[in-house]
Amino acid sequence: MRKNIVAGNWKMNLDYEKGLSLFSEIVNMVKDEVVGEQEVIVCSPAIHLYSISKLAAPVAHVHVGAQNIHQAESGAYTGEISAPQVKSTGASYVILGHSERRAYFGETDTLLAEKVDAALKHGLSPIFCIGETKEEREGGNFFEVIKTQLAGGVFHLSAEEFTKVVLAYEPVWAIGTGLTASPEQAQEVHAFIRSAVAEKYGEEIADNTTILYGGSANPGNARDLFSQKDIDGGLIGGASLKSRDFLEIVKVFN
Ligand code: G3H
Repeated sequence: MRKNIVAGNWKMNLDYEKGLSLFSEIVNMVKDEVVGEQEVIVCSPAIHLYSISKLAAPVAHVHVGAQNIHQAESGAYTGEISAPQVKSTGASYVILGHSERRAYFGETDTLLAEKVDAALKHGLSPIFCIGETKEEREGGNFFEVIKTQLAGGVFHLSAEEFTKVVLAYEPVWAIGTGLTASPEQAQEVHAFIRSAVAEKYGEEIADNTTILYGGSANPGNARDLFSQKDIDGGLIGGASLKSRDFLEIVKVFN
């Protein structure tokens, strides 16, 4: 059966000390208060990856991820970080295709497909983000947008490769805005995503694919969202910066 996952995305927040301190709190709380099978992932800025991976190592179900990689393995790409470099810190996931990367850094589906390949080649599982803007939702063509993002970013993978991918539906209009997709709106898109995966890779793989919801998820709305049939957890931005809020979301699966 598919995994339930709650992943935090710290984005470009927290200096080194604050990140370590927040992560230590999360690990201690997860040890004491999480009794379910859910997986907890923290996607931190690169500066934290090595240290928090060391703290995560002894705790089953707690993992670390990066927020981006370059598609090349190494080379003259000043300021970038590669999949093998991330892997060498002890991290095991990487967020790819986040709408902030697509919007502010011009990341296209073609580039993202290369990054997905680089991640998988070096043993990182992509948390691949898809989602429509406000205009696309209002224009009514959001299913098409999502299908195109899936086709461009991950549907070139073999079935075996695809089983290592986690998908995250993040309606851009709900990210950091306090506006959340209703559980019904989110479920409708999650079911669509799962059916697109089934069409491409078959029912069994679709059933085993974890699909996270992201976009102003918080301790107040997580239970309703995660109780939907096709929502298997969350990719949490703002609420992942407070250990107590993040834990409350993780505990929905207890
Ligand atoms: O990656 C996380 C998402 O962008 C959601 O962010 O929870 O602050 O809306 P948010």
